[in-house]
Amino acid sequence: MTTYELEQLLLQQPVSLLHRLARGRISRHFRSGKRKLIDLLLHASEQNRPGLESDLIALIEEPTRRQPAAPAEKLPQAQAHPRTVGSPAAHRPHRIEDHGHHEPPVSLHDWLSGIGVPPPQPFVPDAWQVDALAQLAETDVVVSVPTGSGKTYVAIEATARAMRENRTVIYTSPLKALSNTKFTEFSRLFGPDQVGILTGDRRENAQAALLIMTTEILRNLLYDAAGGEIDVRLDTLGLVIMDESQYLADPERGVVWEETLIFCPSQARLLLLSASIGNPQDIADWLTAIRPTPCSLIRHTKRSVPLRAGYLHPNEKLTPLFRTAGIPYGQPHLLHPEAKRLFAEYEEETGPSRSR
Ligand SMILES: Nc1ncnc2c1ncn2[C@@H]1O[C@H](COP(=O)(O)OP(=O)(O)OP(=O)(O)O)[C@@H](O)[C@H]1O
Ligand SMILES: [Mg+2]
Repeated sequence: MTTYELEQLLLQQPVSLLHRLARGRISRHFRSGKRKLIDLLLHASEQNRPGLESDLIALIEEPTRRQPAAPAEKLPQAQAHPRTVGSPAAHRPHRIEDHGHHEPPVSLHDWLSGIGVPPPQPFVPDAWQVDALAQLAETDVVVSVPTGSGKTYVAIEATARAMRENRTVIYTSPLKALSNTKFTEFSRLFGPDQVGILTGDRRENAQAALLIMTTEILRNLLYDAAGGEIDVRLDTLGLVIMDESQYLADPERGVVWEETLIFCPSQARLLLLSASIGNPQDIADWLTAIRPTPCSLIRHTKRSVPLRAGYLHPNEKLTPLFRTAGIPYGQPHLLHPEAKRLFAEYEEETGPSRSR
C-alpha cells in the first residue's frame, strides 16, 4: 500500500478505530483529533509499515470476525480437547485478513502439542557438556548456552570430580531462593552431610565439602581472606561455580561478581554459567588476563527447548501470541488474530475512558 492509499484508508475510519490503532504507537493519542491522529500514525508507520497496515486491516475486519469467532479455550479444557483458535477464519486458506500470509494461523492444539513429560530414555551428555568438563580439567570455563540446555549437569559433574579429589566446592547463585533450591537438590545428590548453605537467612553445615551461598556471602568471605583472616574452606577450595553469572553486568550488583572473580583464589577453578551473556568471549578474555589460569569459552545458541510465545488473558483465555508456532523475531505484524482480539478486548475493558 502506498502512503497515499494508507492515508485514504485511515481517513475512512472512525476516530475510535484510529485511537485503538494508535495505542502503543503514540503516547497520549487520545488528546489528538482525527486529522492530527492520522498524521501521527503516518509518521509512526515509518518505523514499521507492515505492522501498522496489518493491525489496521485486522481492526477494520474485526466486527465481522468477532461474530463467528470461537471463544478461546480456558487452559485445562484446551489441553483436554483443544479447538482451532479463531476458527472458522483460520480454516480458510486465503482470506483478506490473512493479509499476504497464505498459511492459516497456528491452532491452539498444534501450538500446545509436545508439552509434557517426555518418555524416559538413557541420559547421554551433549557434546558441549562433555567439552565443558574436559576444558575444566585444564582451564577456567565460561559456559554461555541457552536456558534449559543442561548447565546444572556440568556443575554437578565438576563438583563430583572436585570432591573425589578432596577439594571443596563453592556454588554461588544471585538469589536466596535459588540457593535454597540448589541446597535441596545437591543434598539429595551428594548426601546431606556433604552440603552446606550460607545465605543472609540460613547457615547450615558451614564446613561441608560443597557450600552453596549467595555471591555476596562469597565476596565477603574473600574480603576476610584478603584481610588476613584466611577461612579454612578457602585453603582447600578446588572449584567455584557461579550460576547466573550474567549478573556481572548488573548495574547495582555486578560489582559483587567482579570483585568475587578478582579475589577468587588462584588455585580454584572457575566455572561461570549463564544463558544470557552478550559478550562471553570478552569475559573469558578478561578472566584469562587477570588470573594465572587461562579461561575457555563454551558457547552455543541452539535451544534444546524451543520457546513458545502465548498470551494468557486475565480471564484465563489462552492463545498463541503469533501466527506461527515458533517466535517470528522482529515481525510483530505476525501477531495471532485471536491474541489481537483479546488485547483489544482487554484494552477496551481497562482503557482510560473506563477508568475515569
Ligand atoms: N544431555 C541431556 N540430554 C537430555 N536432557 C538433559 C541433558 N542435560 C540436561 N538435561 C535436562 O534438561 C533440563 C534443563 O537442565 P538445566 O536445569 O540444567 O538447564 P540450565 O541450562 O541450567 O537452564 P537455566 O538457564 O534455565 O538455568 C533438566 O531437566 C535436565 O535434566
Ligand atoms: Mg540453571
